[in-house]
Amino acid sequence: MPRRRKGGIAGRRAFVHAIAHIELNAIDLAWDMVARFDNPKLPRAFYDDWVRVAKDEAEHFALLSQRLVEMDVSYGDLPAHNGLWEAANNTRHDLLARLALVPMILEARGLDSTPVAAAHLEANGDSDTAAVLEKIGQEEISHVAAGVRWFEFVAADRGLDPVATFHELAATLFTGSIKPPFNAQAREAAGMSEAYYRPYERHKFNED
Ligand SMILES: [Fe+2]
Ligand SMILES: [Fe+2]
Repeated sequence: MPRRRKGGIAGRRAFVHAIAHIELNAIDLAWDMVARFDNPKLPRAFYDDWVRVAKDEAEHFALLSQRLVEMDVSYGDLPAHNGLWEAANNTRHDLLARLALVPMILEARGLDSTPVAAAHLEANGDSDTAAVLEKIGQEEISHVAAGVRWFEFVAADRGLDPVATFHELAATLFTGSIKPPFNAQAREAAGMSEAYYRPYERHKFNED
């Protein structure tokens, strides 16, 4: 049964560890959103949103850390990827760029991939981790929604076209690639119009 190996314990540990690392970074990035960008025009609701996101991310990290312990490892036992910090560093100078890259590109990618991963884990008999991922996937919708809402607020404040500005920021500052398949339903629930991601559908053909 070679297929079962993919869902084996080592693979699942590495996967859960990778997601836990993203959630830990996400806690710091939510607080960074609160503290870094000084803009007196931002209303109280902006700060309330990111405090709420930080609380969600802390819960996500705690749930995944617990799953790691149940799999006989701890967070920090395995190497971790630095992509989120790279995006954070590239956007440290500008709130609009940060909103584009972190919630609207990276967290939105989580909306696409989390339900697929949850279904895969469920099919491999790990319904505990699947349940955690399903909860995370649901809650991340509101994080992407906050990203879209404040991105459009700041773009309007600067007199910029939000969609064109988003694509420009993605092209100049994002070192990864925006790739399908997209979870159109979750993205719509987050208030993200298709104009933000449909242009990247072509990657599907380029990468084949
Ligand atoms: Fe999260
Ligand atoms: Fe999030």
